[in-house]
Amino acid sequence: MNILQINSSARREGSHSTGLADRLVRRLRDTEPSAALTVRDLTTTPHPHLDEATLGALFTPADKRSPEQSARVALDDALIAEIAAADVVVLGVPMYNFGVPAQLKHWIDAISRAGVTFRYTEKGPEGLLKGKKVYVALTRGGRYRNTPADSQVPYLSTVLGFLGMTDVRFVYAEGLAMGADAERAALESAYGEIEEAVAA
Ligand SMILES: Cc1cc2nc3c(=O)[nH]c(=O)nc-3n(C[C@H](O)[C@H](O)[C@H](O)COP(=O)(O)O)c2cc1C
Repeated sequence: MNILQINSSARREGSHSTGLADRLVRRLRDTEPSAALTVRDLTTTPHPHLDEATLGALFTPADKRSPEQSARVALDDALIAEIAAADVVVLGVPMYNFGVPAQLKHWIDAISRAGVTFRYTEKGPEGLLKGKKVYVALTRGGRYRNTPADSQVPYLSTVLGFLGMTDVRFVYAEGLAMGADAERAALESAYGEIEEAVAA
């Protein structure tokens, strides 16, 4: 079993989403000790955003690309290869300004490639990253679960599903900015959700 862990907090130290993602991985490896782990930390290894030059590189046929264009596409290729090889994906995702961190969006932009990770057929779009289990550890300062202000869950469910990843479990730690007691309770609750998620 190959596990791919994606950390998207901008914090290198003290990140709750990374801590919960680490815990998810630890619990998964307790049941599958031989599982291989790849960790991609989008803060220590930031991925470049989708700019005009990148679009130009992606839409230029491979044999016509400049060395710079080939190098840029190769960065995205590496992320696609990583997720294609994963059986299980664990995402650590803080809420930033009611959305996902920009770095996670860059990762999603990199792995979403027509003809490679999804394609259109006469029946509609088909995701090509199939057969994977995905766990998402969400951390928030406030509490937005099951409210319209929680744009993260619909967004991630949609884009991951579009790419073929339909088995997605969300674990929440909410109210982390609402005092020490609320923070402790949020983490305890998230630990319980992790146990339920890995047992399911
Ligand atoms: C730039 C920034 C924006 C944030 N925006 C929100 C927000 O919109 N809603 C919310 O509930 N918490 C927000 N928070 C709080 C974080 O979601 C919370 O601190 C979370 O634990 C951060 O994840 P981390 O511990 O993995 O770094 C924000 C924090 C930062 C630093």
